Amino acid sequence: MDKLRIGVLASGRGSNFEAILRNIQSGYLNAIIVAVISNKKNAGALEIARENDIPAYFVSAKQYPDSHQFDAQILRLLKQHDANFVVLAGYLKMLGKNVIRNFKNRILNIHPALLPSFGGKGMYGHFVHEAVISYGCKVSGVTVHLVDEEYDTGPPVVQKCVSVLDDDTPQSLAARVLEVEHQAFSEALKFFAENRVEIHNRRVRIKPN
Ligand code: GRF
Repeated sequence: MDKLRIGVLASGRGSNFEAILRNIQSGYLNAIIVAVISNKKNAGALEIARENDIPAYFVSAKQYPDSHQFDAQILRLLKQHDANFVVLAGYLKMLGKNVIRNFKNRILNIHPALLPSFGGKGMYGHFVHEAVISYGCKVSGVTVHLVDEEYDTGPPVVQKCVSVLDDDTPQSLAARVLEVEHQAFSEALKFFAENRVEIHNRRVRIKPN
């Protein structure tokens, strides 16, 4: 398997993207980030990309007459940079079918809870942590999963637990979950980089080293 050439899609501050980048720079993860694409002009992720000389693109659905052309532009940029893997690092838009089909089993998303709980459309950011706390959960966590054509339904690759403390607020829980997100994403990517991922009947198995 060729070296992972990752295209990152992100809508926000980009701390997950930055954590992946640091893990590449430290040598933990054998990969290269070939481009960062955001649907938000002022996304922190784009700024981090520019600071690190990674091609950075703002691509908004509003710039295209229909979703197919928006989708086609994202695919074009990924292909232009010869990406062979896609990371959704806080990307708040549904990825188009064309991109998903072109990168089958090669797209990872991160969700700040233990799927299938607290996932689906509208379940992102603080909404997730608020829902976890108001349900009274004792445990939450992180899910890094493959992306299929629905929201948050692809098979998990890595899941990690985070305790919910009695005095947690959505903010304090989000902060602890985020630290674990930063580890879990690179861990999942490392499995792909080492060609250790087998997928059978939606179950992801990691081959031993
Ligand atoms: C993370 O909590 C991630 O799980 C969610 O969006 C947030 C993105 O944070 N999907 P960042 O932009 O990576 O800092």
